[in-house]
Amino acid sequence: MSVKDKNQVIIFDTTLRDGEQALQQSLSIKQKLQIALVLEQLGVDVIEAGFPISSPGDLESVRAIAKALKTSVCCGLSRAVDKDIDACHEAFKGLDHCRIHTFIATSDIHAKSKLRKSFSDILDMAVHAVKRARNYTDDVEFSCEDAGRTPIDNLCAMVEAAIKAGATTVNIPDTVGYTLPYEWGNIIHTLFNKVPNIDKAIISVHCHNDLGMATANSLTGVLEGARQIECCVNGLGERAGNTSLEEVVMALKLREGYTKGLYTNIISTNIARASQVVSGICNEPVPSHKAIVGSNAFAHSSGIHQDGVLKNKNTYEILTPQSVGFKENNMHMTARSGRHMIKAVLEKLGYKDGTYDLDSIYSRFLKLADRKGQVFDYDLETLMFFSHQEEEETQFTLDNLSVVSGDKNVLPTAAVRLKIGKRTRTDSGTGNGPVDAVFNCITRLTGIKLELFNFVITAKGTGMNAQGQVDVDVVYNNRHYYGKGLSTDVIEASALSLISACNSIYRAQIIEKEKAGLERKESK
Ligand code: KIV
Ligand code: ZN
Repeated sequence: MSVKDKNQVIIFDTTLRDGEQALQQSLSIKQKLQIALVLEQLGVDVIEAGFPISSPGDLESVRAIAKALKTSVCCGLSRAVDKDIDACHEAFKGLDHCRIHTFIATSDIHAKSKLRKSFSDILDMAVHAVKRARNYTDDVEFSCEDAGRTPIDNLCAMVEAAIKAGATTVNIPDTVGYTLPYEWGNIIHTLFNKVPNIDKAIISVHCHNDLGMATANSLTGVLEGARQIECCVNGLGERAGNTSLEEVVMALKLREGYTKGLYTNIISTNIARASQVVSGICNEPVPSHKAIVGSNAFAHSSGIHQDGVLKNKNTYEILTPQSVGFKENNMHMTARSGRHMIKAVLEKLGYKDGTYDLDSIYSRFLKLADRKGQVFDYDLETLMFFSHQEEEETQFTLDNLSVVSGDKNVLPTAAVRLKIGKRTRTDSGTGNGPVDAVFNCITRLTGIKLELFNFVITAKGTGMNAQGQVDVDVVYNNRHYYGKGLSTDVIEASALSLISACNSIYRAQIIEKEKAGLERKESK
């Protein structure tokens, strides 16, 4: 792969190789292909699609990905042994522009305990592997596994030999995430000073996150001259993960001045989608506090922060959510929120300043927030239209629930009795599972035609005493409503969560009617 501009940092994504090898369950060819296409749309330069020798399925998926990619280069991993390199060639046979990535460990501990070879034997194997790969393609990457713990003179000798043998990219991995940024920077700096043919190849960094240094080390690496960063979406990868793609890309983009114009080809507005697709397919939830892509990365909760952001977003946001593909920031309404926030939400809902008593709404809001944890915009409207006593009343209450479910021979069936106002009504029916059967009964009983947007079930507590918590996010009239249910029985927790969302929708319906009545009066 040739780079036209000395400031371009090549993004080499290894989500499908280093990331995938850390998953509890390997991905199917179809799933890998889906991720590869999303990475290509993201603008990734090189996609490491797998390790062809590891299984026939992996070889097949590397081949399928290589065939499907149009702009990204496909790469396959191999140890420094003939059969691995030949398996990469097999995967790429007849296809243009693919990369073979061959590696061998260079540190003393790996040489002695794992490979049981001398450094000079390892050097010979590396040279042989690079030459063999070069017989198949012009694009050969060589990695010195555990470079971070390799004596610097050995590392220099290895890099020089690999380049001489024909490696076009030489990757320097901190395989065990051991080095600190300053130390890592020194290693890369020394390579550039001491390896005579270093300018004949692209130097790459591949940092693991065992001490949480992966992003910092990768950036230090490019500041010292490396021009390829190996990374994974959402920071997936062995143990604590690899460098997170979104973090290095956004750091380079945001701090362009500091990094003297280094840039990548990543289309940053596609980051959120890539993160969601990878998390969904890999079944690896993104932690809420994850930099750039976590659900809290653009959320503000404390009163002081919310006040600042309302006055000027730059006070607490260094990036816009839109720059990475999210729609907008989130302002969580909690007991830590201040009056400014409440006023801003009411304004967004259409309530003009002076038409309500902010002091009284705010003091009721604080009580509600202490009770509920998080308050939503529709809760705030409830405070505007309902008295304290009415606010506590619920229209729908679960009175009785029974379900029948089993294996594929049993049709999931539910019977639900709800208290609706002063009456009691019952419904029964089937569904594609017990929760679906219960939800069908509840929507018929309440008459609320909602759409289920998200359903999350989590165990609260440990062992046999754990309770199931169900959180639902439903959409009604283009607005999101949330419900929570807790029970030792997850089906009951599901019913309670949907009923709680229905109660919020019911109140919102009353408010809409009252608002329409007020508007009619005003217009007369
Ligand atoms: O961490 C590592 O050293 C690797 C190599 C195979 C590049 O993943
Ligand atoms: Zn790795």
